[in-house]
Amino acid sequence: MSERVCYLDNAATTYPKPPGVSKAMLETMKNIGASPGRGGHRMSLMAGKVLFGTRERIAGFFNVPDSRNVVFTKNATESINIALKGTLRPGDHVLASGVEHNAVMRPLEKLSRGGVPYTIVPCGRQGFLSPDDLEKAILPSTRLIVLTHASNVTGTILPVLEVGKIARSRNIIFLVDAAQTAGALRIDMEEMNIDLLACTGHKGLMGPQGTGFLAIREGIKLDTLVEGGTGSRSESIEQPDLLPDKFESGTQNTPGVSGLEAGIAFIENEGLDKIREREKALTRKLLEGLSGVKGVEIFGPLDPEKQTAVVSFRVSGKDPGETAEILDSKYGIITRVGLHCCPLAHKTIGTYPEGTIRVSPGFFTTDSEIDYFLRSVGKI
Ligand code: ALA
Repeated sequence: MSERVCYLDNAATTYPKPPGVSKAMLETMKNIGASPGRGGHRMSLMAGKVLFGTRERIAGFFNVPDSRNVVFTKNATESINIALKGTLRPGDHVLASGVEHNAVMRPLEKLSRGGVPYTIVPCGRQGFLSPDDLEKAILPSTRLIVLTHASNVTGTILPVLEVGKIARSRNIIFLVDAAQTAGALRIDMEEMNIDLLACTGHKGLMGPQGTGFLAIREGIKLDTLVEGGTGSRSESIEQPDLLPDKFESGTQNTPGVSGLEAGIAFIENEGLDKIREREKALTRKLLEGLSGVKGVEIFGPLDPEKQTAVVSFRVSGKDPGETAEILDSKYGIITRVGLHCCPLAHKTIGTYPEGTIRVSPGFFTTDSEIDYFLRSVGKI
Protein backbone atom coordinates (compact mmCIF):
# COMPACT_ATOMS: atom_id res chain seq x y z
CA MET A 1 0.00 0.00 0.00
CA SER A 2 1.42 3.37 -1.04
CA GLU A 3 2.12 5.82 1.80
CA ARG A 4 1.54 8.71 -0.54
CA VAL A 5 -1.92 10.30 -0.94
CA CYS A 6 -2.72 12.19 -4.12
CA TYR A 7 -6.36 13.24 -3.82
CA LEU A 8 -8.13 13.61 -7.18
CA ASP A 9 -11.78 13.15 -6.19
CA ASN A 10 -12.88 16.75 -5.69
CA ALA A 11 -16.07 16.21 -7.69
CA ALA A 12 -17.22 13.92 -4.87
CA THR A 13 -16.07 16.28 -2.11
CA THR A 14 -13.35 18.90 -2.03
CA TYR A 15 -10.27 18.05 0.01
CA PRO A 16 -8.43 19.65 1.64
CA LYS A 17 -10.69 22.47 2.76
CA PRO A 18 -9.39 26.00 3.36
CA PRO A 19 -8.08 26.16 6.96
CA GLY A 20 -10.72 28.77 7.85
CA VAL A 21 -13.47 26.15 7.48
CA SER A 22 -12.53 23.88 10.40
CA LYS A 23 -11.46 26.95 12.42
CA ALA A 24 -14.91 28.52 12.04
CA MET A 25 -16.61 25.23 12.94
CA LEU A 26 -14.48 24.74 16.06
CA GLU A 27 -15.04 28.31 17.19
CA THR A 28 -18.78 27.99 16.67
CA MET A 29 -18.86 24.81 18.74
CA LYS A 30 -16.61 26.23 21.47
CA ASN A 31 -17.97 29.76 21.75
CA ILE A 32 -21.57 29.63 20.57
CA GLY A 33 -22.86 26.08 20.85
CA ALA A 34 -26.51 26.99 21.46
CA SER A 35 -29.54 26.28 19.31
CA PRO A 36 -30.29 29.05 16.78
CA GLY A 37 -33.67 30.78 16.92
CA ARG A 38 -34.76 28.84 20.02
CA GLY A 39 -35.52 31.11 22.98
CA GLY A 40 -34.36 34.69 23.29
CA HIS A 41 -31.13 34.13 25.23
CA ARG A 42 -27.86 35.64 24.04
CA MET A 43 -26.27 32.39 22.89
CA SER A 44 -29.29 31.47 20.78
CA LEU A 45 -29.16 34.94 19.21
CA MET A 46 -25.45 34.47 18.45
CA ALA A 47 -26.18 31.11 16.81
CA GLY A 48 -28.99 32.75 14.82
CA LYS A 49 -26.49 35.33 13.59
CA VAL A 50 -24.30 32.55 12.19
CA LEU A 51 -27.21 31.33 10.08
CA PHE A 52 -28.20 34.84 9.08
CA GLY A 53 -24.65 35.82 8.11
CA THR A 54 -24.24 32.71 5.96
CA ARG A 55 -27.63 33.21 4.31
CA GLU A 56 -26.61 36.76 3.44
CA ARG A 57 -23.30 35.61 2.03
CA ILE A 58 -24.98 32.93 -0.11
CA ALA A 59 -27.58 35.44 -1.33
CA GLY A 60 -24.80 37.84 -2.36
CA PHE A 61 -22.74 35.11 -4.03
CA PHE A 62 -25.60 33.74 -6.16
CA ASN A 63 -27.56 36.97 -6.58
CA VAL A 64 -30.64 35.90 -4.62
CA PRO A 65 -32.51 39.19 -4.00
CA ASP A 66 -33.70 38.29 -0.48
CA SER A 67 -31.63 36.06 1.80
CA ARG A 68 -34.82 34.74 3.46
CA ASN A 69 -35.31 32.75 0.26
CA VAL A 70 -32.17 30.73 0.98
CA VAL A 71 -33.17 27.58 2.87
CA PHE A 72 -30.53 25.39 4.51
CA THR A 73 -30.61 21.67 3.76
CA LYS A 74 -28.17 18.85 4.33
CA ASN A 75 -27.11 18.52 0.69
CA ALA A 76 -28.12 19.09 -2.93
CA THR A 77 -30.11 15.83 -2.96
CA GLU A 78 -32.39 17.08 -0.20
CA SER A 79 -32.76 20.44 -1.97
CA ILE A 80 -33.72 18.70 -5.23
CA ASN A 81 -36.27 16.50 -3.44
CA ILE A 82 -37.91 19.53 -1.82
CA ALA A 83 -37.96 21.34 -5.17
CA LEU A 84 -39.45 18.46 -7.18
CA LYS A 85 -41.88 17.05 -4.63
CA GLY A 86 -42.86 20.47 -3.35
CA THR A 87 -43.97 21.75 -6.75
CA LEU A 88 -45.17 18.81 -8.87
CA ARG A 89 -48.68 17.41 -8.79
CA PRO A 90 -50.37 14.57 -10.78
CA GLY A 91 -50.85 15.65 -14.37
CA ASP A 92 -47.73 17.82 -14.42
CA HIS A 93 -44.96 16.91 -16.84
CA VAL A 94 -41.20 17.34 -16.30
CA LEU A 95 -38.26 17.72 -18.69
CA ALA A 96 -34.75 16.64 -17.73
CA SER A 97 -31.45 16.18 -19.56
CA GLY A 98 -29.75 12.93 -20.52
CA VAL A 99 -26.97 13.42 -17.96
CA GLU A 100 -28.98 13.85 -14.76
CA HIS A 101 -27.69 12.34 -11.52
CA ASN A 102 -29.74 9.86 -9.49
CA ALA A 103 -30.44 12.75 -7.09
CA VAL A 104 -32.79 13.93 -9.84
CA MET A 105 -33.68 10.63 -11.54
CA ARG A 106 -34.77 8.69 -8.48
CA PRO A 107 -37.25 11.33 -7.23
CA LEU A 108 -38.49 11.73 -10.83
CA GLU A 109 -38.97 8.00 -11.19
CA LYS A 110 -40.95 7.89 -7.95
CA LEU A 111 -43.03 10.90 -8.97
CA SER A 112 -43.77 9.31 -12.34
CA ARG A 113 -45.45 6.41 -10.54
CA GLY A 114 -47.70 8.97 -8.88
CA GLY A 115 -48.88 10.49 -12.17
CA VAL A 116 -46.08 12.98 -12.93
CA PRO A 117 -44.48 11.77 -16.18
CA TYR A 118 -41.07 12.96 -17.29
CA THR A 119 -39.19 13.12 -20.58
CA ILE A 120 -35.44 12.86 -20.92
CA VAL A 121 -34.04 15.15 -23.59
CA PRO A 122 -31.08 13.20 -25.01
CA CYS A 123 -27.58 14.66 -24.83
CA GLY A 124 -24.81 13.89 -27.32
CA ARG A 125 -21.93 11.48 -26.61
CA GLN A 126 -19.94 14.31 -25.00
CA GLY A 127 -22.85 15.19 -22.75
CA PHE A 128 -23.94 18.37 -24.52
CA LEU A 129 -27.61 19.37 -24.52
CA SER A 130 -29.22 21.32 -27.35
CA PRO A 131 -31.60 24.04 -26.05
CA ASP A 132 -33.59 23.61 -29.31
CA ASP A 133 -34.13 19.91 -28.61
CA LEU A 134 -35.30 20.80 -25.13
CA GLU A 135 -37.69 23.45 -26.39
CA LYS A 136 -39.18 20.99 -28.90
CA ALA A 137 -39.88 18.52 -26.07
CA ILE A 138 -42.04 20.98 -24.10
CA LEU A 139 -45.67 19.82 -23.73
CA PRO A 140 -48.68 21.92 -22.69
CA SER A 141 -48.48 20.12 -19.31
CA THR A 142 -44.74 20.76 -18.78
CA ARG A 143 -44.56 22.38 -15.36
CA LEU A 144 -40.86 22.08 -14.56
CA ILE A 145 -37.48 21.74 -16.28
CA VAL A 146 -34.63 20.30 -14.24
CA LEU A 147 -31.07 20.53 -15.44
CA THR A 148 -27.75 19.73 -13.91
CA HIS A 149 -25.43 22.69 -14.49
CA ALA A 150 -22.53 20.33 -15.28
CA SER A 151 -22.29 16.57 -15.56
CA ASN A 152 -20.61 14.87 -12.59
CA VAL A 153 -19.32 12.19 -14.99
CA THR A 154 -17.77 14.23 -17.83
CA GLY A 155 -17.82 17.79 -16.48
CA THR A 156 -19.81 18.90 -19.56
CA ILE A 157 -21.37 22.32 -18.89
CA LEU A 158 -25.06 22.51 -19.82
CA PRO A 159 -26.67 25.63 -21.36
CA VAL A 160 -28.36 26.95 -18.22
CA LEU A 161 -28.54 30.53 -19.46
CA GLU A 162 -30.33 29.55 -22.70
CA VAL A 163 -32.67 27.07 -21.02
CA GLY A 164 -33.50 29.66 -18.34
CA LYS A 165 -34.69 32.02 -21.07
CA ILE A 166 -36.84 29.30 -22.63
CA ALA A 167 -38.34 28.30 -19.28
CA ARG A 168 -39.16 31.90 -18.34
CA SER A 169 -40.74 32.66 -21.72
CA ARG A 170 -42.94 29.54 -21.44
CA ASN A 171 -43.77 30.12 -17.77
CA ILE A 172 -42.18 26.82 -16.72
CA ILE A 173 -40.43 26.40 -13.35
CA PHE A 174 -36.66 26.06 -13.82
CA LEU A 175 -34.72 23.96 -11.29
CA VAL A 176 -30.92 23.85 -11.52
CA ASP A 177 -28.83 21.17 -9.82
CA ALA A 178 -25.62 23.07 -9.11
CA ALA A 179 -23.92 20.31 -7.10
CA GLN A 180 -20.95 20.30 -9.49
CA THR A 181 -20.76 24.01 -10.24
CA ALA A 182 -21.51 26.09 -7.13
CA GLY A 183 -18.15 27.65 -6.32
CA ALA A 184 -16.68 26.51 -9.65
CA LEU A 185 -18.67 28.50 -12.23
CA ARG A 186 -20.44 31.83 -11.90
CA ILE A 187 -24.14 31.41 -11.08
CA ASP A 188 -26.54 34.35 -11.07
CA MET A 189 -30.10 33.34 -10.22
CA GLU A 190 -31.59 36.49 -11.71
CA GLU A 191 -29.60 36.62 -14.94
CA MET A 192 -30.04 32.88 -15.54
CA ASN A 193 -33.78 32.93 -14.76
CA ILE A 194 -33.36 30.16 -12.21
CA ASP A 195 -36.45 29.57 -10.05
CA LEU A 196 -34.99 26.91 -7.78
CA LEU A 197 -31.25 26.52 -7.20
CA ALA A 198 -30.12 23.34 -5.44
CA CYS A 199 -26.58 23.39 -4.04
CA THR A 200 -24.40 21.37 -1.78
CA GLY A 201 -21.86 22.97 0.53
CA HIS A 202 -19.08 20.38 0.52
CA LYS A 203 -17.95 20.46 -3.11
CA GLY A 204 -16.97 23.67 -4.92
CA LEU A 205 -18.11 25.85 -2.03
CA MET A 206 -15.43 24.11 0.08
CA GLY A 207 -17.62 23.77 3.17
CA PRO A 208 -18.23 20.69 5.28
CA GLN A 209 -20.32 17.66 4.34
CA GLY A 210 -23.90 17.80 5.62
CA THR A 211 -24.47 21.36 4.42
CA GLY A 212 -26.40 22.64 1.43
CA PHE A 213 -29.23 24.91 0.48
CA LEU A 214 -32.13 25.56 -1.83
CA ALA A 215 -32.60 29.11 -3.11
CA ILE A 216 -36.20 29.82 -4.03
CA ARG A 217 -37.33 32.59 -6.36
CA GLU A 218 -39.91 34.90 -4.81
CA GLY A 219 -43.39 33.78 -5.78
CA ILE A 220 -42.60 30.07 -6.38
CA LYS A 221 -45.17 28.03 -4.46
CA LEU A 222 -43.50 25.13 -2.75
CA ASP A 223 -44.88 22.59 -0.28
CA THR A 224 -42.84 21.11 2.57
CA LEU A 225 -41.40 17.61 2.82
CA VAL A 226 -40.81 17.89 6.55
CA GLU A 227 -42.73 19.78 9.22
CA GLY A 228 -41.82 20.49 12.83
CA GLY A 229 -40.46 23.02 15.26
CA THR A 230 -39.03 26.15 13.70
CA GLY A 231 -38.63 28.35 16.78
CA SER A 232 -41.24 30.69 15.26
CA ARG A 233 -45.08 30.89 15.52
CA SER A 234 -44.94 28.23 18.22
CA GLU A 235 -48.52 28.95 19.28
CA SER A 236 -49.75 27.27 16.07
CA ILE A 237 -49.64 23.56 15.22
CA GLU A 238 -49.59 24.51 11.55
CA GLN A 239 -46.27 24.82 9.76
CA PRO A 240 -45.44 28.53 9.36
CA ASP A 241 -45.63 29.77 5.78
CA LEU A 242 -42.75 32.24 6.14
CA LEU A 243 -39.31 31.66 4.64
CA PRO A 244 -36.85 30.31 5.55
CA ASP A 245 -38.62 28.77 8.58
CA LYS A 246 -41.13 26.84 6.46
CA PHE A 247 -38.35 24.54 5.21
CA GLU A 248 -36.06 24.55 8.25
CA SER A 249 -37.77 22.36 10.83
CA GLY A 250 -35.61 21.02 13.64
CA THR A 251 -32.34 22.35 14.99
CA GLN A 252 -30.05 23.51 12.24
CA ASN A 253 -26.42 22.49 11.64
CA THR A 254 -24.93 25.73 12.99
CA PRO A 255 -21.28 24.54 13.12
CA GLY A 256 -21.57 23.18 9.57
CA VAL A 257 -23.18 26.37 8.31
CA SER A 258 -20.38 28.45 9.88
CA GLY A 259 -17.89 26.25 7.98
CA LEU A 260 -19.86 26.79 4.79
CA GLU A 261 -19.65 30.54 5.25
CA ALA A 262 -15.88 30.26 5.70
CA GLY A 263 -15.65 28.21 2.49
CA ILE A 264 -17.54 30.83 0.48
CA ALA A 265 -15.51 33.62 2.12
CA PHE A 266 -12.36 31.86 0.93
CA ILE A 267 -13.70 31.73 -2.64
CA GLU A 268 -14.65 35.41 -2.52
CA ASN A 269 -11.20 36.35 -1.23
CA GLU A 270 -9.37 34.30 -3.84
CA GLY A 271 -11.82 35.25 -6.61
CA LEU A 272 -14.06 32.85 -8.51
CA ASP A 273 -12.34 33.72 -11.80
CA LYS A 274 -8.93 32.80 -10.40
CA ILE A 275 -10.30 29.47 -9.14
CA ARG A 276 -11.91 28.74 -12.52
CA GLU A 277 -8.68 29.60 -14.37
CA ARG A 278 -6.65 27.34 -12.10
CA GLU A 279 -9.11 24.46 -12.54
CA LYS A 280 -9.11 24.98 -16.30
CA ALA A 281 -5.30 24.82 -16.37
CA LEU A 282 -5.33 21.57 -14.37
CA THR A 283 -8.00 20.10 -16.64
CA ARG A 284 -6.00 21.06 -19.75
CA LYS A 285 -2.90 19.42 -18.34
CA LEU A 286 -4.88 16.28 -17.53
CA LEU A 287 -6.51 16.11 -20.97
CA GLU A 288 -3.26 16.72 -22.85
CA GLY A 289 -1.36 14.26 -20.68
CA LEU A 290 -3.96 11.50 -20.85
CA SER A 291 -4.40 11.82 -24.60
CA GLY A 292 -0.67 11.07 -24.94
CA VAL A 293 -0.94 7.78 -23.05
CA LYS A 294 -1.37 4.78 -25.34
CA GLY A 295 -4.53 2.80 -24.72
CA VAL A 296 -6.36 5.54 -22.80
CA GLU A 297 -9.85 6.56 -23.93
CA ILE A 298 -11.17 9.88 -22.61
CA PHE A 299 -14.85 10.85 -22.43
CA GLY A 300 -16.53 14.25 -22.42
CA PRO A 301 -15.89 17.55 -24.22
CA LEU A 302 -12.06 17.31 -24.16
CA ASP A 303 -12.09 21.10 -23.84
CA PRO A 304 -11.46 22.88 -20.51
CA GLU A 305 -13.65 25.81 -21.63
CA LYS A 306 -16.65 23.51 -21.96
CA GLN A 307 -16.25 21.41 -18.84
CA THR A 308 -15.59 21.61 -15.15
CA ALA A 309 -12.46 20.05 -13.64
CA VAL A 310 -13.71 16.51 -14.24
CA VAL A 311 -12.17 14.00 -16.63
CA SER A 312 -13.49 10.46 -17.19
CA PHE A 313 -11.32 7.83 -18.84
CA ARG A 314 -10.66 4.13 -19.29
CA VAL A 315 -7.58 2.08 -20.07
CA SER A 316 -8.34 -0.27 -22.95
CA GLY A 317 -8.42 -3.92 -22.10
CA LYS A 318 -8.60 -3.18 -18.38
CA ASP A 319 -11.59 -3.13 -16.08
CA PRO A 320 -11.95 0.47 -14.72
CA GLY A 321 -12.29 -0.92 -11.19
CA GLU A 322 -8.97 -2.71 -11.54
CA THR A 323 -7.20 0.40 -12.86
CA ALA A 324 -8.60 2.57 -10.05
CA GLU A 325 -7.58 -0.05 -7.49
CA ILE A 326 -3.99 -0.07 -8.77
CA LEU A 327 -3.94 3.75 -8.78
CA ASP A 328 -5.04 3.73 -5.13
CA SER A 329 -3.09 0.84 -3.64
CA LYS A 330 0.14 1.10 -5.63
CA TYR A 331 0.37 4.86 -6.22
CA GLY A 332 -1.85 6.40 -3.52
CA ILE A 333 -3.97 8.17 -6.15
CA ILE A 334 -7.59 8.69 -5.15
CA THR A 335 -10.11 8.70 -8.01
CA ARG A 336 -13.75 7.64 -8.26
CA VAL A 337 -14.62 4.63 -10.40
CA GLY A 338 -17.88 3.10 -11.61
CA LEU A 339 -21.17 4.75 -12.46
CA HIS A 340 -20.84 7.79 -10.16
CA CYS A 341 -24.53 7.53 -9.06
CA CYS A 342 -25.30 8.55 -12.63
CA PRO A 343 -26.18 5.57 -14.87
CA LEU A 344 -28.05 7.90 -17.24
CA ALA A 345 -24.92 9.89 -18.12
CA HIS A 346 -22.96 6.67 -18.60
CA LYS A 347 -25.65 5.40 -21.00
CA THR A 348 -25.40 8.72 -22.83
CA ILE A 349 -21.62 8.56 -23.26
CA GLY A 350 -21.58 4.81 -23.98
CA THR A 351 -19.81 3.59 -20.85
CA TYR A 352 -22.70 1.77 -19.17
CA PRO A 353 -22.55 -0.59 -17.26
CA GLU A 354 -18.77 -0.72 -16.61
CA GLY A 355 -18.43 3.00 -15.96
CA THR A 356 -15.22 5.02 -16.03
CA ILE A 357 -12.44 6.26 -13.81
CA ARG A 358 -13.15 9.86 -12.91
CA VAL A 359 -10.31 12.22 -12.04
CA SER A 360 -11.28 15.54 -10.51
CA PRO A 361 -8.57 17.96 -9.38
CA GLY A 362 -9.41 20.93 -7.19
CA PHE A 363 -8.06 24.40 -6.50
CA PHE A 364 -5.41 22.97 -4.15
CA THR A 365 -4.18 20.28 -6.58
CA THR A 366 -0.59 20.91 -7.69
CA ASP A 367 0.94 20.50 -11.16
CA SER A 368 3.32 17.91 -9.76
CA GLU A 369 0.35 15.85 -8.54
CA ILE A 370 -1.05 15.82 -12.08
CA ASP A 371 2.40 14.85 -13.44
CA TYR A 372 2.60 12.03 -10.91
CA PHE A 373 -0.91 10.83 -11.87
CA LEU A 374 -0.05 10.87 -15.58
CA ARG A 375 3.20 8.98 -15.01
CA SER A 376 1.33 6.39 -12.96
CA VAL A 377 -1.35 5.87 -15.62
CA GLY A 378 1.45 5.54 -18.18
CA LYS A 379 3.01 2.74 -16.12
CA ILE A 380 -0.33 0.93 -15.82
N1 ALA B 1 -22.37 13.05 -6.63
C1 ALA B 1 -21.05 12.96 -6.12
C2 ALA B 1 -20.09 12.45 -7.14
O1 ALA B 1 -20.29 12.64 -8.29
C3 ALA B 1 -20.95 12.31 -4.82
O2 ALA B 1 -19.11 11.83 -6.80
